[in-house]
Amino acid sequence: MRILVTGKNGQLGRSIHKLVNTDNKIDNNQSSDDFIFVGREELDLSSESSINHYFDNNDKFDIIINCAAHTQVDKAEEEQELASQINHLAVKQLSSIANKQQAKLIHISTDYVFNGESDKPYIETDTPNPINVYGKTKLAGEKALQVVMPTNALIIRTSWVYSEYGNNFVSTMLRLGKERDELNVVSDQIGSPTYATDLAGAVLEIIKNKEFRESDQTTQIYHYSNEGELSWHEFAKEIFKIAKIDCKVNSIATQQYPTPAKRPKNTLMNKDKIAETFSVNIPDWKESINTCVSILKEQQ
Ligand SMILES: NC(=O)c1ccc[n+]([C@@H]2O[C@H](COP(=O)([O-])OP(=O)(O)OC[C@H]3O[C@@H](n4cnc5c(N)ncnc54)[C@H](OP(=O)(O)O)[C@@H]3O)[C@@H](O)[C@H]2O)c1
Repeated sequence: MRILVTGKNGQLGRSIHKLVNTDNKIDNNQSSDDFIFVGREELDLSSESSINHYFDNNDKFDIIINCAAHTQVDKAEEEQELASQINHLAVKQLSSIANKQQAKLIHISTDYVFNGESDKPYIETDTPNPINVYGKTKLAGEKALQVVMPTNALIIRTSWVYSEYGNNFVSTMLRLGKERDELNVVSDQIGSPTYATDLAGAVLEIIKNKEFRESDQTTQIYHYSNEGELSWHEFAKEIFKIAKIDCKVNSIATQQYPTPAKRPKNTLMNKDKIAETFSVNIPDWKESINTCVSILKEQQ
């Protein structure tokens, strides 16, 4: 199978790359899969013509994994058109190309499609109601995909993604923790972090699944994050504990830390569906943050 991965320089794209062989292959029982990783240089999702140009000039794919997105939640508030093009219109276009090529599409979405007002973990059929531009454009992408591809696609909503790559909450805390004696971190936003390597492993597990590979199935949404329930404040405290950084973490309320984009309060997601359907591994958040911090410390 030829498998295209977009967003090769992002956290998830790089994490998938890390898990495939150095020759960009994965050997399954049934066959060998070839991975092709592309970034915005090859496939610019902000441009309809760039997308057409890329697919017109490359052999057809069997699976497309869309890890690229406009992920800067605050910036999206002032870049509505760009965020909409990348998170909505490009997803619609990729869906129609996948349809034409009879390719499967795995698309990554977000917990921010929810308003965060629920007092229990969100399930896939709960009604989304995003409260910021990023969430609205990601939801529009989900909906467009479902209309264009009623079969053969899969949407994975994830949350609080971190990794050893690029800038994210963990790398920011490690940097700030060394520069400062104390930090203020919000304690009234609850969710579950997701180590990008764990999500990458889940995506590769899905790709190996015989039913997914071989039969036409109704398009489905799944939720995936690490196990556990915590606030950003608890997350920061644990990062400093593991990294042995002596920095006091003060608990503050969201309203004491105003941002251009509103953040949902509680975006815990129920992961039973993905666990039952694909038997994917869902490590506890403490286990995974330990792994990531160890890798980051080795790199220093
Ligand atoms: N990060 C989170 O906390 C989080 C939470 C929930 C859901 N998600 C979802 O999870 C998925 C993966 O996120 P991530 O954390 O890996 O994001 P990321 O690290 O920000 O990576 C996103 C990638 O998209 C690429 N991209 C942006 N604009 C593009 C364009 N016009 N054309 C082509 N590529 C473009 C970026 O390219 P450059 O490297 O060139 O900028 C980047 O490599 C996304 O769908 C995101 O919405 C993320």
